[in-house]
Formats: sequence, structure tokens, C-alpha cells
Amino acid sequence: MTKRYKVWVSRPLFAEALARLDQHVTLVAEATERQHSPAQLRERLADVDAAIIGLSDRVDAATLAGNERLRVIANLAVGYNNLDIDALTRAGVLACNTPDVLNETTADYAWALLLAAARRVGAAERWLRSGQWTGTMRIDDWLGVDLHGRTLGILGMGRIGQAVARRAGGFDMRVLYHNRHRLPEVTERQCAARWVDQPTLLAESDHLVLALPYTPGNHHIIGAAELARMKRGSVLVNIARGGLVDEAALAAALAAGQLAAAGLDVYEDEPVVHPALLALDQVVLSPHLGSASADTRRNMAHLAVDNVLAGLGLGSAAGDPPTPINPQLLHARPAPGKA
Ligand code: DGY
Repeated sequence: MTKRYKVWVSRPLFAEALARLDQHVTLVAEATERQHSPAQLRERLADVDAAIIGLSDRVDAATLAGNERLRVIANLAVGYNNLDIDALTRAGVLACNTPDVLNETTADYAWALLLAAARRVGAAERWLRSGQWTGTMRIDDWLGVDLHGRTLGILGMGRIGQAVARRAGGFDMRVLYHNRHRLPEVTERQCAARWVDQPTLLAESDHLVLALPYTPGNHHIIGAAELARMKRGSVLVNIARGGLVDEAALAAALAAGQLAAAGLDVYEDEPVVHPALLALDQVVLSPHLGSASADTRRNMAHLAVDNVLAGLGLGSAAGDPPTPINPQLLHARPAPGKA
């Protein structure tokens, strides 16, 4: 079969996902994980019809300048703050992401971080491993913060936020949420969650989980003022994007005891972690792995492949990519190969 299209995959991907692409297109897949410079990204994208990229690949108007060929970009993530969607749309490039397949896994991980931070799992394990458990334990050693019976606050009540909320029943927690748009009543009932304004959420939550997408408009939505409004001794978890939190202010709030603990999976300047956070034992830190279960990462890879194939007009869903971000392009442009 003559392969009409060429597709670049910017980082190593599961072999079975690559094999699906390989059946239909000429595949250029990177064999090693690496950070591409803006110039490298521009060069690679200029030479292909579609690409699967990751969060550290930033695509904006400059990346696309002069690119006459690219038709589809599939982001291996649900969040797409690495993509300038307006620039992609202007350039006629369909952008796709990987929503839904990672909701439950990411929600599981929010709870892992929340439990670990509230019950001091990271610090206690480091202490044990370093050979410091040499005698009997005092009754007031390793005291953490309870989850059961407390109030869970969720800022950002999209599909992942809702999945976090649904798990709270098992801990007998009251759930409050804030979202720009209040959810339909039926969804609120399913999540057993009540909408409140943001100041109330901050003031009443014992544990606050951030699950909202990052936009320039909500940069540092949790800064010094918001941290000061939170309950003393509360716990903050961020599974969304680092830019939502002023990390220096968070470190100061933790050091002052305003917050008891934090669980962070995302950072403002990944892979760099603010040194003041690294220095604090009461912060559980993980390297942006919220969606990293074996099944979910495979499902994300296959969804990205589905988007590329369908976006190029190939395969069983030709012309109907499952999760486009700028679907208006599907109606505006001629079908691939028919221009
Ligand atoms: C996402 O999908 O946006 C996650 O942050 C990456 O795993």
C-alpha cells in the first residue's frame, strides 16, 4: 500500500500503538526521550502531516510559521496548555487531546497524594529507611490529619474533579466544590458535592484538591492571599498544573504551619521543583505521574493514534477524530486528500 502521509511521534510510545500507525502512514518515531528545542520542533513538524507530541513540546505560532503541511497534532495529555489553540486553528491544524481515558486513574492518584500528605507517608518512610526507628514510638510521633469526617474541597469540577468527589463517600467526607459553572443538579447528586463560591471553598475545606485546567487567567489562583484564607492546618493537593499555585507562597505557608501538608504532582517549571518545597518534609512530591497506570497510559496512546488516523482521513473513523479540541476545523476544511 502506498503510504500517503507521514507522522512524527516526538517520544517513545508503546509498540502496539506505533504498529497501528505504521499500518497506514510513514512513521518517524523518536526512540529516546528528549526535550526538543523550539527549532527542532519547528523542523520536525514542517516535514510531516501529523504528529503525536507530549506536554513538554510547546507549539505556538512561531513553531508553525511557514508550515504548509501539518494537519493534525495529537497531544498525549488531557491538558493542552502547551498548545496555542488559536495559532493552530488559524494555521488549519486540528488539535486533539486525551480526555476521559485518564479520569479515574488521575482521581485515584489525587487520593494517593492526599492520603500520603495528610498522614505523612513520605516523611515517615524516609525516616524509617534512614534507620531512625530504633526505639519505641511516642504517642505523639507522626501525628497526621484525618480525612474521614472532614471537608474535602475541589477547585475545578470537570471530569477528574468529579471522579475525585465520587471517591469521598468512602471516607465519609463532606464535599464542597467551586467551578466557574455550577454542575447540573443530577451530577451534584452523583458526586454528593455542593457548589460554593471560591472564598467559602478556601475557608471551609480541610483538604483542598486542585483539578482545574491551567489558563493564563488562573495563573497563581492559589497565592499568598488564598493560602492565608485556608483553614489553619489544612492540606493542599495539586494534580492539575503547577502554574495554578504560587510555589514560593505555598512553601512559606507550609513553613509557617498555616498548611499542615501538601501533595504535589505538578510544578510551575517542570522538571525543576522549587527548592523551598524540596526542603520541606511535609510535602509529598511526585514527577507529574497522575495518569501513569499501565492501562491508562496505553489507552492514552491509542486515543492519540485514533485522533491522528481519523484526522488524516484514515482508518475506520476517518474524518471523525474522537477528541478534537478545535472541532470547528473538521467542518471548515476539505477532507484530507480531497483539497
Ligand atoms: C494530562 O493528561 O494533562 C496530564 O497532566 C499528563 O499526564
